[in-house]
Amino acid sequence: MSSDHLHEERVLILDFGSQTTQLIARRVRESHVYCEIHPFNMPLDKIRAFQPKGIILSGSPASVHDPGAPLSDLALYSLQVPILGICYGMQIMSLQLGGTVEKADRREYGPATIDLDNPGELFRELESKGVRVWMSHGDRILGLPPGFSVLACSENSPVAAMSDPGRRFYGVQFHPEVVHTPCGRAVLENFLFRICHCRPTWTMKSFVDTVIQGMRERVGPHQVICALSGGVDSSVVAVLLHKAIGSSLHCVFVNNGVLRRGEAESVRRIFQDHFALNLTYVDASELFLERLRGVIDPEQKRKIIGNLFIELFEQEAVRIPNVKYLAQGTLYPDVIESVSFKGPSATIKTHHNVGGLPEKMKFELIEPLRELFKDEVRLVGRELGLPEQVVMRHPFPGPGLAIRLIGEVSPDKLEILREADLIILEEMEASGWYDRVWQAFAVLLPVQSVGVMGDERTYDQVIAVRVVESLDAMTADWARLPYELLQRISNRIINEVKGVNRVVYDISSKPPSTIEWE
Ligand code: XMP
Repeated sequence: MSSDHLHEERVLILDFGSQTTQLIARRVRESHVYCEIHPFNMPLDKIRAFQPKGIILSGSPASVHDPGAPLSDLALYSLQVPILGICYGMQIMSLQLGGTVEKADRREYGPATIDLDNPGELFRELESKGVRVWMSHGDRILGLPPGFSVLACSENSPVAAMSDPGRRFYGVQFHPEVVHTPCGRAVLENFLFRICHCRPTWTMKSFVDTVIQGMRERVGPHQVICALSGGVDSSVVAVLLHKAIGSSLHCVFVNNGVLRRGEAESVRRIFQDHFALNLTYVDASELFLERLRGVIDPEQKRKIIGNLFIELFEQEAVRIPNVKYLAQGTLYPDVIESVSFKGPSATIKTHHNVGGLPEKMKFELIEPLRELFKDEVRLVGRELGLPEQVVMRHPFPGPGLAIRLIGEVSPDKLEILREADLIILEEMEASGWYDRVWQAFAVLLPVQSVGVMGDERTYDQVIAVRVVESLDAMTADWARLPYELLQRISNRIINEVKGVNRVVYDISSKPPSTIEWE
């Protein structure tokens, strides 16, 4: 699917729908072994073509007793490749190889301790008694499949881990991929290095070298165009491609009039002056604001901004001769065909990054980051010498400040928002909190409230401060900032931003709220 065999030693993770499947992949990669997630029913010829050094079967919200429980091809067990089953993955392996699985009297969920009866290769160099692990299962293994023996047991699971070392099949009832299993990394690394004999060669340096070489060959004499937003993903794509193909890369940065303070200048400074990228700067701020005039509905704002962006980008693209490719910062979580037991989720907000571009334009896509998780992209950025300010930048929505001021977009409101936003960022950075949270920003509310300044009564606007912690923006919680920090932010906004006399802190989690207000 994605990797064109660029990375030699690969582990395959078959996904049965667990929420922690992506975590397994991240842990494997943190141990410097390349891996990919594919659906549990990946066809056998594709598995063979993938040439995995090892296979990991993930957990699942399903029970092996459910009608229609997800099953892998039995032939998986004849590939002579080491297999590690995690939770459901172990139970399904057990059933398919002739063992028995029963419904446990009670669900085991949360911390547990296991005792190692026989550590084998999987638990090599671990303590043998009272090993802390994280469990989350209803079913448990009763009878081992032929050839297997018990490696570990817990109070509630007589088979907390099992193996058939001859065939190199291993199963664990607990979740080694979660942080609540302190020995998890050691267990996974024992599987990767002692059992699969992988070498830890997947590093961001090796990734950069491989991609640069691959991109050079692929692009040849053609030209590539790239929409640069200043965000981490598009910045890394741009600098990576610039290293590979130099002036054959053409970046376009569109100022849509709803950027943060100093953003356009900073993008020009970093990419044009420092990295000497071929950068076309399109200042369309007035045009965007004109089109946004009178618009209140957030979805409408998104559509207007997204469509105009495409329009302008197309105009720029036709000016560059011989363009064959469009480079995009698509990341791995966007391309994983994860198994979902929840069905298609409803669109809550339309998130259009550059997503609408390729269908309308006759370009081939170049997506050099489509194998990477976000934290890996940041490492690549560092490897490429991007400034920390870009590497650690919080996500910023395409429709920008337009969806952070409730109601109609106007230059006055944008000004207030930019000032408040800058204060929040300055204070977050000065206190060391910036890198600890997912996003921190200001929202301008369509409310006026009474205040008093000096001897005068004021009737001014309200800024909501939104600071959230999150791993992937799917869920989020408000950050428990120290009161002193909140106090400084509030004081500064009220004192320094003309037109604001009240600051509130948003303490809603997602769900049921969203991160942005619109
Ligand atoms: P919500 O508000 O849905 O946001 O919890 C989740 C993440 O997506 C960002 N976001 C957007 N990004 N275009 C974008 O490119 C959009 O229209 C958009 N709306 C929200 C948001 O900042 C958060 O990181």
